[in-house]
Amino acid sequence: MEETPAPHKRRPRYRGTNPRRFEERYKEHDPERYGATVERVIAKGQTPAGMHLPICVQEILEALDPKPGEIGLDCTLGYAGHSSLLMPRLLPGGMLFAVDVDPIELPRSTQRMRDQGYDEVTFISRQQNFAAIRGLLGEAGGGFDVVLADLGVSSMQLDNPARGFTYKADGPLDLRLNPEKGRPASELLKAVTLPRLEKILSEYADEPYAKDIARAILRSPNPPSTTAQLTKLVRSGLGNLEEKHVKKSLARTFMALRIAVNEELSVLDHFLEVLPYCLKPGGRVAILSFHSGEDRRVKRAFAIGLEEAVYETISPAPILAGEAERRANPRSIPAKLRWAVRSTKPLG
Ligand SMILES: C[S@@+](CC[C@H](N)C(=O)[O-])C[C@H]1O[C@@H](n2cnc3c(N)ncnc32)[C@H](O)[C@@H]1O
Repeated sequence: MEETPAPHKRRPRYRGTNPRRFEERYKEHDPERYGATVERVIAKGQTPAGMHLPICVQEILEALDPKPGEIGLDCTLGYAGHSSLLMPRLLPGGMLFAVDVDPIELPRSTQRMRDQGYDEVTFISRQQNFAAIRGLLGEAGGGFDVVLADLGVSSMQLDNPARGFTYKADGPLDLRLNPEKGRPASELLKAVTLPRLEKILSEYADEPYAKDIARAILRSPNPPSTTAQLTKLVRSGLGNLEEKHVKKSLARTFMALRIAVNEELSVLDHFLEVLPYCLKPGGRVAILSFHSGEDRRVKRAFAIGLEEAVYETISPAPILAGEAERRANPRSIPAKLRWAVRSTKPLG
């Protein structure tokens, strides 16, 4: 693929031949202009900086079966990867609503959809929590035919050191999906008790060294305010554990704190409760989860819904990304997809 030469502008300075840091990888941040670079990064099984590769696309489209004239809801717009693929299936005649809590990425992804030619009538985006989707029902004409929730965090959020989601680069210890609301992880760690922190680590991330890590963090006279400081404390709690296990514990610690800071599990519970009332009779929902705490909740809510005839059918087992996708995009490895079809009978 040809790359469009950039208008003369000094490229960011970086050490060595290739940029390594997230903010320096200017070609990846501009996929329109540097398509060939972006394709090379994807072919290496990596996600280009500032991008997110949609997961289980075929499986989701099959489960949701969006049709022209239908009304869809993407509860987690992210990079608009799934929205871009759902939208053409709903046209002509349909609409897609999309929400995301992230005030930084939402306008960019909305613009990405506008650039693909979808106007405010067919593609409606809102910055809001998906726990509050009932608020969209009036505008949507009473219910949705298809609903997608791709839970958790996007690659753009995860890879951007300024958001504090990763131990791999230094940045403020924030971890909020919406940095304009709530308190950052650094504040949570100033106030949390030892039993509570241990519970966060073990319950939200199944961290086997929860006690050691919690003690190491809270023993420090200076609560961590950066990702590097937290990483150092976690490492100190793990003694001389093998590096590959340390990295797993670090990833789990950051995930657990993210779940706590954003109250992700109670938000998911609330969403699962209101979901049947937001689906039209016969409406389809697909939920992609990334850790056991999420999947357990989705599995249970769908099973209870089936028992109570709220749902007519549910996926008999979780659907995993195929071998080729797992190889091409390692971030798809933990993904579990479950779907359900709302009963055609009125809800009690
Ligand atoms: C895995 S990404 C979605 C990626 C998207 N499907 C795509 O293909 O580009 C998850 C997104 O959900 C958003 N999110 C997480 N929890 C949310 C919530 N409770 N309400 C609204 N958005 C949420 C995050 O900000 C993030 O942008």
